[in-house]
Amino acid sequence: MLLIGLLMLLHAGLQGAQCVAFYTEKPSYIESCKIYEPEFTKCSTRSIQAFMNQLVKGVPEIEESFGPIDPMRQEQLVFKQDNSDVATLSANLTDMLIRGFGKMLIKESKVSKKDFSWLTKIYLPQMRIDGHYKMVGRILLVPLQGNGKIVMEIDDLDILMTTKTRLYEKGGYTFYNVTSVKVKVDVGKVRTRLDNLFNGHSKEVEDSTNQFFNDNWKDVFEALRPLVVETVERTLLDLLHKTFALFPASFFVEDIPTSLTLYGRKSHMIT
Ligand SMILES: *[C@@H]1O[C@H](CO)[C@@H](O)[C@H](O)[C@H]1NC(C)=O
Ligand SMILES: *[C@@H]1O[C@H](CO)[C@@H](O)[C@H](O)[C@H]1NC(C)=O
Repeated sequence: MLLIGLLMLLHAGLQGAQCVAFYTEKPSYIESCKIYEPEFTKCSTRSIQAFMNQLVKGVPEIEESFGPIDPMRQEQLVFKQDNSDVATLSANLTDMLIRGFGKMLIKESKVSKKDFSWLTKIYLPQMRIDGHYKMVGRILLVPLQGNGKIVMEIDDLDILMTTKTRLYEKGGYTFYNVTSVKVKVDVGKVRTRLDNLFNGHSKEVEDSTNQFFNDNWKDVFEALRPLVVETVERTLLDLLHKTFALFPASFFVEDIPTSLTLYGRKSHMIT
């Protein structure tokens, strides 16, 4: 691990000393791009794809703070939807296992010169969510009250990700603080399977309801869309926030301005 130069910084905060480690030497798997030169987006797209491939293969510090990328775990998700034509739904998902990010394709990675936010187009040939659900409500007029296993398989998932960042300095390097991730998703085809839909009252009705849902998967997906969007947003925010606390932004954008240059001294002092 010769390439990994880890610098330990000691932050004496209110809660005591906190140890923050990050890369001080650029690993060979990161390609640097220059935002003030032409073809930046092309370079950045290639660079982020190669970097993601490496994350999937495994970067020890990311595995430690985030866990593996594929399959990846999520503890819990709570969602409520009551303003839709297709569903009135309150659902909790726990013990989620998400598969598919290992095959993510970065179709485009744009960075704004103005505020260094990102616009990223990602494609996943398939995503599968396994978990435990608890829900009350109705989808397509079918009243539901149950809890059990849920499996959702999505083919051809297109994700348009908008990421807000705030630059900051650490140990003489400029870093991204990834502060928010919003996504828009488009799907090719969705299959769902919900076990124990009516608290086990009728296996036959459960099977035919699942069949009905899959026959009407477009509407069912609209009902469950917030679930998918939130899962993807939370997952990516967590991953990107942790990742970019570890790797300086200048490894990716060689000519990135410092936070002081970008925001000016005054606003820098206020935040
Ligand atoms: C989901 O969990 C929240 C609190 O964690 C709870 O208020 C809500 O009733 C739960 N919903 C269902 C459908 O169980
Ligand atoms: C990143 O931003 C969050 C607020 O969005 C803030 O609480 C946190 O302290 C920031 N981290 C760094 C290292 O600047």
